[in-house]
Amino acid sequence: MAKLTEIGWEEFERLPLEAKKPYLENGEIPDTPFHTLFAQQFDRELLERLARLANRIRFMAKSKEGAMYLKSLLCHKRAMLYFSQPSSRTFLSHLAACQILGLTTGSVRDTAISSEFKGESKEDSIRTFSSYFDLIIMRTPEKGLAEKMAWELSNSSRPIPILNAGSGKDQHPTQALLDIYTLLRSFENKGGLRNRTVTFCGDLMRGRTVRSLSYLLTNFENIRQVFVAPPQLQVPEDVTAILAAKGVEFTKSDNLREAVTLSDAVYMTRIQDEWDESKGESAKIDTSRFKFGAEELKLLPAEGIIMHPLPRRDEIATCCDHDPRAMYWRQMRNGMWIRSALIAMTFGFEKQIMCFGA
Ligand code: NCD
Repeated sequence: MAKLTEIGWEEFERLPLEAKKPYLENGEIPDTPFHTLFAQQFDRELLERLARLANRIRFMAKSKEGAMYLKSLLCHKRAMLYFSQPSSRTFLSHLAACQILGLTTGSVRDTAISSEFKGESKEDSIRTFSSYFDLIIMRTPEKGLAEKMAWELSNSSRPIPILNAGSGKDQHPTQALLDIYTLLRSFENKGGLRNRTVTFCGDLMRGRTVRSLSYLLTNFENIRQVFVAPPQLQVPEDVTAILAAKGVEFTKSDNLREAVTLSDAVYMTRIQDEWDESKGESAKIDTSRFKFGAEELKLLPAEGIIMHPLPRRDEIATCCDHDPRAMYWRQMRNGMWIRSALIAMTFGFEKQIMCFGA
């Protein structure tokens, strides 16, 4: 069993992501993550286990008896939501997931009113939270900070799990979990998540949800990936290198309409202009052909679905919202269930929940 206490930070940092996976597992519960930092920690079996657990929690939460049982599970634990980057749904979704399981929560959202303003390092701030809490859910603009904190905390006298709720332009593992959960549910009675074409469209260069989901999809049989974007915002090399190494079929395109006709799922994303290096850089790019509207809706196969991590701007026209193939609102709610499943699993309650009422 690999342990973060047995490897130095520099050595750990240099490992390829898949090699880091065993270090992030829960030593006491087999095949279960302790820290959740990136998509490479999840294989198909774990994804399906999480989806089953989320379905179970979803069902239990419908009755008062089930909801009260769930609430009793982690009422002795506290979670800290440290979000130093803008967020509404990811913050609320994690908050709701904690509430479902009875965790009490605290939050820091504005570092200008925390001790970081007095010059405290992020590392020291997060270490401080670990004195009062049992789980840290964090979103930061810095790539790698969640990973560094996971290593630091595992090497401290109070090792508590870190859950990455979005790290820079890099990864957003829990978003990818909810995306996979949505895909699994959408195709459940239609032949499953295999032999499908998933099209990503928008800012694929800077969208962290795309990197995490593209990887998770490689766990499923014969999923072709199509990347539709203006050349300046096309998917980065590190994402396609993984696909190439795994023998996954993928294409890059600038023709959304053509891709839509062949897609089982179209995953739209917004232009991430907060990452512009010079002011107004993204506004100069012609993105007019990378929007999903009434015409694209006509071209989408009858069983195809439209997804979006949200928030959206104008990349999906509101006229699509009431089409049964528009999955983005359900996708968002799925996030609350899959995050509850992940937190419950992290704390070792998977079996108990699955056996409830049996
Ligand atoms: C995404 C994010 O923060 O990366 N949003 C989310 O978590 N639902 C996508 C985005 O901001 O465009």
